[in-house]
Parts: sequence; C-alpha cells; structure tokens
Amino acid sequence: MSAERQIKIFDTTLRDGEQSPGASMNISEKLEVAQALVDLKVDIIEAGFPIASPGDFEAVRAIADNVRGAVICGLARSSNDDIDRAWEALRGAERSRIHVFLATSAIHREFKLKMGKEEIIRRTIASVSRAAGYCPDIEFSPEDASRTEVDFLCQVVEAAIGAGATTVNIPDTVGYATPDHIGSVIRTLRTKVPNIDRAVISIHCHNDLGLAVANSLAAIENGAGQIECTINGIGERAGNCALEEVVMALRTRADYYKASTGVVTERLVPTSRLVSNITGLQVQRNKAIVGRNAFAHEAGIHQDGMLKERSTYEIMRPEDVGLAKTDLVLGKHSGRAALADRAKALGYHVSAEQLQTVFEQFKLLADKKKEVYDADIAALIEQEIRDMPETWTISGYRLVAESGQVPTVTLTLKRGAEEVTEQVTLGDGPFDALFHAVEKITGVEVVCRDFNVHSVTVGKDAQAEVTVEVEHHRQIYRGRGVSTDSVEASVQAFLNAVNRVAAQLERDAKTAVSQVASKV
Ligand code: KIV
Ligand code: ZN
Repeated sequence: MSAERQIKIFDTTLRDGEQSPGASMNISEKLEVAQALVDLKVDIIEAGFPIASPGDFEAVRAIADNVRGAVICGLARSSNDDIDRAWEALRGAERSRIHVFLATSAIHREFKLKMGKEEIIRRTIASVSRAAGYCPDIEFSPEDASRTEVDFLCQVVEAAIGAGATTVNIPDTVGYATPDHIGSVIRTLRTKVPNIDRAVISIHCHNDLGLAVANSLAAIENGAGQIECTINGIGERAGNCALEEVVMALRTRADYYKASTGVVTERLVPTSRLVSNITGLQVQRNKAIVGRNAFAHEAGIHQDGMLKERSTYEIMRPEDVGLAKTDLVLGKHSGRAALADRAKALGYHVSAEQLQTVFEQFKLLADKKKEVYDADIAALIEQEIRDMPETWTISGYRLVAESGQVPTVTLTLKRGAEEVTEQVTLGDGPFDALFHAVEKITGVEVVCRDFNVHSVTVGKDAQAEVTVEVEHHRQIYRGRGVSTDSVEASVQAFLNAVNRVAAQLERDAKTAVSQVASKV
C-alpha cells in the first residue's frame, strides 16, 4: 500500500450509537454532540434514521440545517418512502449523504426479507438510483455483509456502484467476523468487482466478540478507505468500533498502516466525556485511550521506568488524546475568563448566560472544596446545559432515617411556579423513600434498574456523581446528578431520569394530538 493514505472517519454515534439501550438523546443534546464531532474533525456524521420517528427526523433536519464542517448523513432502508424522508431531512446540509441499506446474507434473505438474490439486486439498483437522483454522495450497505456469500456480495456491490453508490460499506452487523476474514473480503472486493475504483470501500464492525477495532484495522490494511465508528464504542449490544481506539491505532502505528485520519486527537478525551455525560453511559476505567486508568502507571517498576524515560512504558502521550498533564485547574480566586477557557478546552459550547450561572455555581463549589478539577467543572456545566425547561427541580428535602426503622422523607419539588411537597414513610431505605416521593409528586412511576454512586474526583470533599437507570413502558431512561452531598446527587439523578420520562410522555401526547388533528 502506498504511503500515508487518508482514511475517512464516519461517525455513527448519533445513529448506531444512539441505538444502545438507554442512550437516546434529545435534539439539543444531538446538536451538541454533532458540533463536538465537527470540532473533532470527523469527515462524516451519521445524524440518524429520519423515517424511524418524528424525533429522529427533526434531529437529522436540525443537524443538517445548523451544523457546518462535515458531511451530514441520514440512514434509509431500500424503500422509496425511507429515501424520500431521508432527503427531506438532509436537504439543508452543506454536504449531504444518503445511506441506503439492504440485508444480503442468506439468513436475512430467507427469514427476514423473504427475497431471492435477484430481488435483492433489483432493489439495490432501484433504491441507490432513487437516492442518487437527490444527491451525488450515496453510501450503500449490504447489511450482514460478513455472513453473505462472497460472490453474491461482489455482485451486489457492483450493482450498487453501477447505480450510483460512491461509498460501499461492509457491515459486520452481528460482530461475527475475524480480522483475517474481513481482510479477505476487502481484498476480494478489490480484485473481483470491476467498477470498485469508482467507490470508497468502508468498514462497519460491531463488537460482539471484542474484535470491532481489530476487524476495522484489518479492512484498512487491505484497502478500505473509510471506517464507521462511534465515540466510546457505544452501539447496539456490545457496541461498534470505538473511534478513539481505531484513530489512535492508526496514528500510533502509522509506521505499519501508513494511513492517517484528519481527527484532532487532542479532542478525543473531551468528546468521550461529553458523550458519556450526555448518554449516561459510563466509560470503563481501563478502557483504551479514554478510560480513567488508560495512562495511570501503578507498578513501581513502571513508575521508575517512566521517570527515567517515558517511552519505556508509554506508547502515546496523554496530551495527544486531550488529557491534561494535571487537571487541577481552578480555585476560588479564578475568574470568569479562566472558566470560559476551561469550558472550551473541555469541549463545551456555552452561551454567555450559561457561563454566568456556571460561574456562580463554581464559586459556591470552590468555597466548599479546596481544589476544583476538570471533572468538577464538567459536572457543573452539564447540570446547567442539561436542565430541561418546564420540568421538575428540587426545592428541598428532609430525611429521617434510623437503622431498623422505616425512613420518613419530606420532599418539595418545583415546576415553573408550581411547588409541591409530599411526605412519605415507606421504602427499603432512605433512597427508596426519596424515589417514592419523587414518583408521588411527578405522577411518573418507574422501575429502578440500576443505581451507581462514584466520586467525580479524589478526596473526602469530592463531589458524588450518581447515575440511575429506570424503566418505563419497556424503555430505559438514564439520569445523572452531581453534588458534594451524595443524597442530593441521588435525588437529582432519579429526578433527571423521571424528567426524561415526563418529556417523552409529553412528546407522545403531542404526536397523538397532531395525528388526530390531521385525520379530522
Ligand atoms: O450494523 C449494520 O449492519 C448497520 C447498517 C445499517 C450499516 O448498522
Ligand atoms: Zn451497525
């Protein structure tokens, strides 16, 4: 392979990533992630699946209309309605791409689609041609490609390119492939598909066997020119190829892959934190590149080696992925400009008004805590920018808990001008009692599926970060709360999840009303 090929990074955090259970984001959150992806300099942002729901459509349209600096892509099945809807959402973009997919493997043909091979080819041509009538940048994905007979895969790919596909994506939809297998599929496509030079070959790997990054790299080694991936590797089941890992593998082993990406690697950690904060999906501590321990050296021998020469035990520099050497940044005498600067470095776009509120909160926190870290600042910003209008906030609570006794909670919540107080004496403990009180006031009943408390930073005065996962009508919602008081953080987290449920119920009610109105 020739030196330094430029690999395109296609980010699907907002589409495949958002399909992780409980990772759903609202429009403003999606816009924020899309802007962060532009700052990261990915080439293509897959913004969603416009026909999937009105919310998905609006989010793709908002991103297409407002986000500049990357190609904006929307997913469509191989049907006219899907493609037309995708184009409707994408038409305002600076550069748009329609991504059409159709399953090709024998299992999918027989059991899901009930279609023969000829019908698949016919549909591929029809749908790609229709999409190409709207815009010149068309991607086609033969879903479950890695389990498709390779000769048939070549025929489908040839037909898609013939009909106007400019990118042909090879999905390992169920994470079944191995690096050798993926490598040989890409080589076969390059040698057997006569018009392959007219399209970029892309790779899209799921991580069911933990091989998504290795498989994507094998594809690059064998001539693929685009990688589809997500921030923190989020996605269906075990997730997708992790953007930060594959990008840093290409950069760190440029000697071997002789390929590079346009990604600003210093933005990797801030973007990872942003996505984790928004979705509530925590990054495991030992996760490569962006995990809290990714650059921590514990063993004495390692520390000794590092002090003598860092390359003894470090193959990447923490600053290259956006980890500051020290993240102790601000104290109580720090000013607004320093805070604004730090917010920007952490990947946030905050308005002057938001900054003012965060600054006030920061001063209060700096009075309580001696040292204010990046994670503390991120937590304050998150709280400010994620506050959903017209939803419940905590006014105050009183908790009486004694061992062996049923706890009593008096909780006051506020929504706009309305303030409601409830007292409950029940529950398996103080948190359970508080959560019951939240349900009683908001009228939203949920099942708590997960509850996690951890400290944002170090020390006894550290802020507690609480994440909860609740289930409502078989949908998972996540909530997050941060405070130096862990009880308050817990109520905030639970209330945040309940607010998300309430917002969804409101959206559902509006959709139902507009459906009735359109029938009248
Ligand atoms: O995994 C998959 O097959 C997909 C396609 C829609 C590209 O996500
Ligand atoms: Zn996928």
